[in-house]
Amino acid sequence: MKKFNLSAVLLFFMGLSCLQAQEKIPQVEELLAKMTLEEKIGQLNLLTPGGGVATGSVVSEDVEAKIKAGNVGGVFGVSSPAKVRQAQELAVKNSRLGIPLLIGADVIHGYKTTYPIPLGLSASWDMELIKEGAQMAAKEATADGINWNFSPMVDIARDPRWGRIAEGAGEDPYLGSEIAKAMVHGYQGEDLSQPHTMMATVKHMALYGAPEAGRDYNTVDMSRLKMFNEYLPPYKAAVDAGVGSVMTSFNDIDGIPASGNKWLLTDLLRERWGFDGFVVSDYTSVNEMVAHGLGDLQQVSAMAINAGLDMDMVGEGFLTTLEKSVEEGLVSEEQITKAARRILEAKHKIGLLDDPYLYSDESRPQEDILTEENRKLARKAATRSFVLLKKHNNTLPLAKDAKIALIGPLANDKFNMLGTWAPTGDQQLSIPVLEGFRNVAPNAEITYAKGANISNDTSFAKKVNVFGPRIQIAKESPEAMLQEALRVANASDVVVAVVGEAAEMSGEAASRTDITIPDSQKKLIRELVATGKPVVLALMSGRPLDISEEMQLPVSILQVWHPGVEAGNAIADVIFGDYIPAGKLTATWPRSVGQVPIHYRMKITGRPGPESGEFQKFKSNYLDSPNSPLLPFGYGLSYTTFEYSDVKASADSLNADGSIQLSATVTNTGDYDGEEVVQLYIRDVVRSVTPPGKELKGFKKIALKKGESKEVTFTITPEDLKFYNYDIEYVYEPGEFQFAIGGSSDVELKKSFELTE
Ligand code: BGC
Repeated sequence: MKKFNLSAVLLFFMGLSCLQAQEKIPQVEELLAKMTLEEKIGQLNLLTPGGGVATGSVVSEDVEAKIKAGNVGGVFGVSSPAKVRQAQELAVKNSRLGIPLLIGADVIHGYKTTYPIPLGLSASWDMELIKEGAQMAAKEATADGINWNFSPMVDIARDPRWGRIAEGAGEDPYLGSEIAKAMVHGYQGEDLSQPHTMMATVKHMALYGAPEAGRDYNTVDMSRLKMFNEYLPPYKAAVDAGVGSVMTSFNDIDGIPASGNKWLLTDLLRERWGFDGFVVSDYTSVNEMVAHGLGDLQQVSAMAINAGLDMDMVGEGFLTTLEKSVEEGLVSEEQITKAARRILEAKHKIGLLDDPYLYSDESRPQEDILTEENRKLARKAATRSFVLLKKHNNTLPLAKDAKIALIGPLANDKFNMLGTWAPTGDQQLSIPVLEGFRNVAPNAEITYAKGANISNDTSFAKKVNVFGPRIQIAKESPEAMLQEALRVANASDVVVAVVGEAAEMSGEAASRTDITIPDSQKKLIRELVATGKPVVLALMSGRPLDISEEMQLPVSILQVWHPGVEAGNAIADVIFGDYIPAGKLTATWPRSVGQVPIHYRMKITGRPGPESGEFQKFKSNYLDSPNSPLLPFGYGLSYTTFEYSDVKASADSLNADGSIQLSATVTNTGDYDGEEVVQLYIRDVVRSVTPPGKELKGFKKIALKKGESKEVTFTITPEDLKFYNYDIEYVYEPGEFQFAIGGSSDVELKKSFELTE
């Protein structure tokens, strides 16, 4: 009886909130009443006149004429207050109803002040910092006329072959959800009609990070159980945080591409999750349903709008076929009105219906873009993103008066510092590592040599260099470069080698089957080590790499991703110890590509691999590799050391209305003040569907002075122990829960508590 009443009350409130979500906006309804079918379809059309990064094979034509004719709802690839004003004037002064345009952009990791690639920034585990980064990006982008952002990208990725792993927050649904929220709040603020906020788009709905074989745009095939428990949570978190729009993904899901998938876009997104914003396709993803094998452009466009897609990016399938589909009864006018209403409501929320020129203030770029304050934040964000992967002989931090050989193809480079998907940034403004070293340690004696090309393979370089010279193959022979580097190394006290991937070796359509450091650089690293000098690798990449070989070498390794515009300064800050690194990996680093896909939340299976790691026949293991990764999720060292003790629960059990405190004492046992990301992992021991071996359920980043101890406590309620059961109901099930608190996912779950009825 009690249960019945509770759900009745819940249903009542859910009904109320749905009603509220559907409340009509008079300004929008007045417009809709005046609109012809053609004008409504016009609002569903998103074009780009070029100027940004065209990721498909087409760029829109006759954009100006189409805007004047009322055939365009939004554009992207247009920026600066003057150009945006011009575009808005075309719409406002020339189209019959004068409806302003959405002005979109891909502001993925900063606007002009580029900060680290998202995978890097996620390694900070610092939600406040991530939010601040998004706020700063919104301030800069809106100053330049943008009112709608195609970010955050929250696709869970467990396959480092997939280049777009760089753009997200890694492998974990819990951490991914926290980051999704932080970014939405950062971009959108409290009020979207404020000129410093922009509408966010969560993308790519859905499952885009799980393409078969790690090949971009490839098929995704996944059970509903896995989707709900592992892959959908970050999209949902963004929806719950009030994200204004959702972008569909290119891939199919269970046989139907996302852009035409009614189950995804209507049953799940709107009806189950209560999303009340609008849904935009990805770049020509509606048209691509033709290639997927689902019919001609008219059929797939009808399928998309009927599925619940509201806006068609670049493909013009809606523009050119929907009227005909209405005439032929394939699509109802009502469906088109609904979509147009959602676009107009977004324009209302952003403040455009009241002031089309809200984002066209000529004085703002000067005031808001690339300010000292913004660059400071980018520098801080970069230092927080670095992960110390390996320490050797306490080489780090370096003394500021050391005699340093700074070597490597990425050591004096401006073309790769910003990383992938930074079309709004300016590479020329980025600080190379050499310059950063000189800024931070003016008394150090620094000699530079390139030492190697990023890759010696010209045909590979050509593919990577589509957006400009990322891999520059030097005129000198590799051997001559190497000899020069060895000469410099031999004349110094310590070697810092800046090596790794070029920016566009990860990112969109940049999948790799070999995720090692290219041979040219591997050779350089080996030869530098052979000099006997202490060697530090500053490793750049947009993905987890297979560095099994380098981990065996007597070197220190600092993972720096692609750090953004302040790259060199930030790397120097950490190498010289002005900031002690505290980042932790958010995606597992495999021993080899053969272990992929790999992540820490794997299930135990019925024949778990032996704990010793020794091979055993008829167990789930490999003949030629341990199951364990090279570097686990949550891993990262510091110049200091931390010890965990006194891991405990506040009680033996927890009931349905209760909560329990799980805590540990963390002590800084090393020689530096430092920060540590304290992580809580829980395992649901017995439940109705097979549980993962462990799941992250909480984390706290704390600062500890040398010698200091702190107790860190997590409060857990039954809500935190929920999962999707076989019927896709979100439930908790009573029973035993084991837990551990530690500095990475590689922790043994030694303690437990009971969840009672
Ligand atoms: C990408 C999206 C991006 C869009 C517009 C596509 O190729 O998948 O993430 O927002 O292009 O630039």
